[in-house]
Amino acid sequence: MEDSRSYTIREFKPEDLEKVIEINRKCLPENYPPYFFMMQYYNCPKAFLVAEMNNEIVGYIMCRVEYGLSNLGLGVAKKGHIVSIAVMPHARRRGIGKSLMLKAMENLKREYNVDEYFLEVRVSNNPAISLYKKLGYKIVKIIKGYYLDGEDAYLMAKKAE
Ligand SMILES: CC(C)(COP(=O)(O)OP(=O)(O)OC[C@H]1O[C@@H](n2cnc3c(N)ncnc32)[C@H](O)[C@@H]1OP(=O)(O)O)[C@@H](O)C(=O)NCCC(=O)NCCS
Repeated sequence: MEDSRSYTIREFKPEDLEKVIEINRKCLPENYPPYFFMMQYYNCPKAFLVAEMNNEIVGYIMCRVEYGLSNLGLGVAKKGHIVSIAVMPHARRRGIGKSLMLKAMENLKREYNVDEYFLEVRVSNNPAISLYKKLGYKIVKIIKGYYLDGEDAYLMAKKAE
């Protein structure tokens, strides 16, 4: 019998779009039209991943590769931007979020040779901030009023090695 706690991480496929949008709407206030998800997929297919548990998609991570000033004082850099990550409530605290992050970071480095990773997170989002800190991300700055409802964001970054 399959262990109900076990999960697998695989690359996103266009036919997963509806399910990923559903998870995004259930888990986050930042929602996007379908084309936005597909834009990230075309930009960065190897770092758009889903997690499956009992043959059902229960989480995703999507990323984008950007060029610009380093968040870590490294000059002009190739940066892996973690655009969105979410895991369904019933599937949380089993390591899925951490696995999605680690695999996406590994692929961003291997497939796109990024110099660093970065992301924005609500200053009140303790679960996500704990996860990113555990993975070695540091708070670089506060972006005032970053979210539509006025909440500030932490910009967090980590060198890719
Ligand atoms: C953030 C999120 C993706 C984490 O997913 P997850 O699968 O539950 O995370 P993991 O099980 O891999 O947790 C890894 C570590 O992160 C930290 N963490 C995760 N959830 C936490 C919580 N609720 N409280 C405190 N720390 C937490 C812990 O250090 C945890 O390790 P541990 O379980 O050994 O203590 C999930 O809570 C989520 O989808 N939240 C809603 C969407 C969201 O906020 N996305 C991030 C937007 S920037």
